Amino acid sequence: MRIVMVGSGYVGLVSGACLADFGHDVICVDKDHAKIEALTRGKIPIYEPGLDAIVAGNVESGRLAFATDLTAAVAEADVVFIAVGTPSRRGDGYADLSYVYAAAKEIAAAVSDYVVIANKSTVPVGTGDEVERIIRETNPDADFSVVSNPEFLREGAAIEDFKRPDRIVIGCEDERAREYMAEVYRPLFLNAAPIFYTRRRTSELIKYAGNAFLATKITFINEMADLCERVGANVQEVARGIGLDNRIGGKFLHAGPGYGGSCFPKDTLALIKTAQDMESPLRLVETVVAVNDQRKRAMARKVIAACGGSVRAKRIAILGLAFKPNTDDMREAPSLSIVTALLDAGAEIAAYDPEAMDSAKPLMPEITYAPDAYSCLEGADALVIVTEWDAFRALDFDRASELLRERLLIDLRNLYDRDDIERLGFRYVAVGR
Ligand SMILES: NC(=O)c1ccc[n+]([C@@H]2O[C@H](COP(=O)([O-])OP(=O)(O)OC[C@H]3O[C@@H](n4cnc5c(N)ncnc54)[C@H](O)[C@@H]3O)[C@@H](O)[C@H]2O)c1
Repeated sequence: MRIVMVGSGYVGLVSGACLADFGHDVICVDKDHAKIEALTRGKIPIYEPGLDAIVAGNVESGRLAFATDLTAAVAEADVVFIAVGTPSRRGDGYADLSYVYAAAKEIAAAVSDYVVIANKSTVPVGTGDEVERIIRETNPDADFSVVSNPEFLREGAAIEDFKRPDRIVIGCEDERAREYMAEVYRPLFLNAAPIFYTRRRTSELIKYAGNAFLATKITFINEMADLCERVGANVQEVARGIGLDNRIGGKFLHAGPGYGGSCFPKDTLALIKTAQDMESPLRLVETVVAVNDQRKRAMARKVIAACGGSVRAKRIAILGLAFKPNTDDMREAPSLSIVTALLDAGAEIAAYDPEAMDSAKPLMPEITYAPDAYSCLEGADALVIVTEWDAFRALDFDRASELLRERLLIDLRNLYDRDDIERLGFRYVAVGR
């Protein structure tokens, strides 16, 4: 199939490269000239494990190309994916759909023969209807179908997720579009990936419902962690104890500093707004959002308490800035709130992240960035682990002891065993244990 991916960010680039890897002809389009120019030179603008090899291989074989203008590519396409951003609208939390609608207008002006326009961006219920209306209005002669095909990949494991998904959801309103989408994903039938067909509005809601449920699971275990601390229980064991129940499942039950990232915060908020507008409020999700907002700053208070009630003029070493490991994505990362609260309280911050420092620097210009984990510890009064990169799971604590001014580890990801760390002469503060 001839496929155009409009938007070549985390989702568009991974999806485009993987679809090319399946054997389709793919053109990834982006308005960001610097991004396309870098990609054309073989440089990947984001950090995503394995992506460079897939992009290089498919460019080499002629199945993957890049462009800043979609006109020529769309005129030839069978399926055009929209994979542009849908960030929170400043001020009110609704999904900002301006990029989606702008893309729809551009696509409309460029279509010639029948084409399926598949929305991969996460969008509120009814956006597909609006995209259809925009296309019909812009180009009354266009022959097209609008499909919802939400993306479930996780940054850091995006290629594996795209190629071996738990499920593919396709929301469409006509048989012809369904056949086109089946052809796009046919290579995945071989892996027995379940393809779930539904109506467009249902598909749009599935994406939000999924993210809201996962955010709820995380928030549930985070609150349970607080209770564990009060009653002397161990949240990791509570999580394991409930997670072994198949109805609950063990995933997303890791207590920590609260969820962040490019999806959960904005998607839970947008879902709440839709539900309120529909006079069907989702009170559970509203509470999840409120609890999670409080949590990130509460983690800074935890650090301050561990430092004896004040961090004024103290140096705090932060390991991990990205919202999760294996990505350079800083969107809504808990580190942002934690660092800001510690700075507010008078601390000096040194930080290290294996991949996210370039994205973090413009957001937190007032902190020191260390070239590696150990230089970050030099002269620090406390070490705080914020993101659970593998590189932080087996730190050399003998070396750390020599570098730190105080042997204090605040492990916001529960990576370490209390006894092991205390035996080394450290004070150890964890989450819910
Ligand atoms: N990042 C994730 O892990 C993830 C997972 C699932 C779903 N999603 C959803 O996928 C969508 C995209 O997310 P992302 O993280 O890839 O965003 P992103 O910001 O990394 O990428 C979006 C890209 O679209 C480009 N763009 C905007 N308007 C354009 C236009 N008219 N024409 C061409 N390019 C245009 C931007 O320049 C940018 O490069 C969002 O709706 C998001 O919620 C993201």
